[in-house]
Amino acid sequence: MSRIEQALSKAAQERTSAKSSSPNQSSPPVNVFVPNSLTGIDPRLIAIFSVNSLAAEQYRQLRTKIIRAKRLFSHNSFLVSSALPGEGKTVTAICLAITIAQGLQDTVIIVDSDLRKPSVHKMLGINSAKGLSDYLMGKANLEEVIIKTKIDKLSAIPAGTLPSNPSELISSDKMGKLVPELKTRYQNRIVIFDSPPIVSITDSVILSQKVDEVVLVIYANHTPKEAVMDAVAELSGATITGVVLNQFDNLSRYYRKYKYKYKYGYGYGYGYGYGDSARQGREKKVK
Ligand SMILES: Nc1ncnc2c1ncn2[C@@H]1O[C@H](COP(=O)(O)OP(=O)(O)O)[C@@H](O)[C@H]1O
Ligand SMILES: [Mg+2]
Repeated sequence: MSRIEQALSKAAQERTSAKSSSPNQSSPPVNVFVPNSLTGIDPRLIAIFSVNSLAAEQYRQLRTKIIRAKRLFSHNSFLVSSALPGEGKTVTAICLAITIAQGLQDTVIIVDSDLRKPSVHKMLGINSAKGLSDYLMGKANLEEVIIKTKIDKLSAIPAGTLPSNPSELISSDKMGKLVPELKTRYQNRIVIFDSPPIVSITDSVILSQKVDEVVLVIYANHTPKEAVMDAVAELSGATITGVVLNQFDNLSRYYRKYKYKYKYGYGYGYGYGYGDSARQGREKKVK
């Protein structure tokens, strides 16, 4: 058993014994999602799904919007993007993909279309060298680059070899044909594209015109308003499914209070209390 599995199992035992030692106290339902095999998956992702967290609940709400878009409009391809680097696009794309895969019906494929700074493969623990760029360059066929992940019903196309011409590949005819191919190949499949930042790189804007809808990630209290406005302007013409307000932890209490008081239904705030150190040393605002 890996250290992560041990920690999860211990936490589950503690929750069970806390429950039985105070039978009259009503505790929230425990909602533990344990993928088939945890080995190799970023522990921070597992943390989101291993507790009955606000984050997991917010992802389920976003999943509901996505399933609705699919049912009402047959929309099943979604781009996850944000104005600037480091706002949580990849974390959001993966957590959303896992949440959809956890649902009863749909299978999911996540495509790493950030050909400049890819990280889906690292976070999902995929070791394949070949990926989207190799397919687009004609160096691999589609079957070769679709990888089954360790999570049920979730497959992935990693970014592959770092290309020297990412924008050309993303805007190529082959990419234009790949999106409908992935959308229609299997029934009940949802396609999630991770992507580079919108401001100053054209790739995401090009992709936003090929997919059905866009999920916009904003780093709470960090992304300058102007950058968000620029990104929204760049996305004009795209359908925005929703906005994920990432790193919402400092505001979450406040948010919950008002959510319950006034039944606000906007946004997707979440915070799961880790990773601040990962951000230390990085600029808080990109200008
Ligand atoms: N909600 C969060 N809480 C803590 N750390 C986060 C959160 N979202 C992202 N991170 C961390 O911030 C860094 C950047 O996130 P990432 O998803 O790679 O951003 P992007 O894809 O927008 O560049 C990663 O180290 C990631 O683990
Ligand atoms: Mg990323």
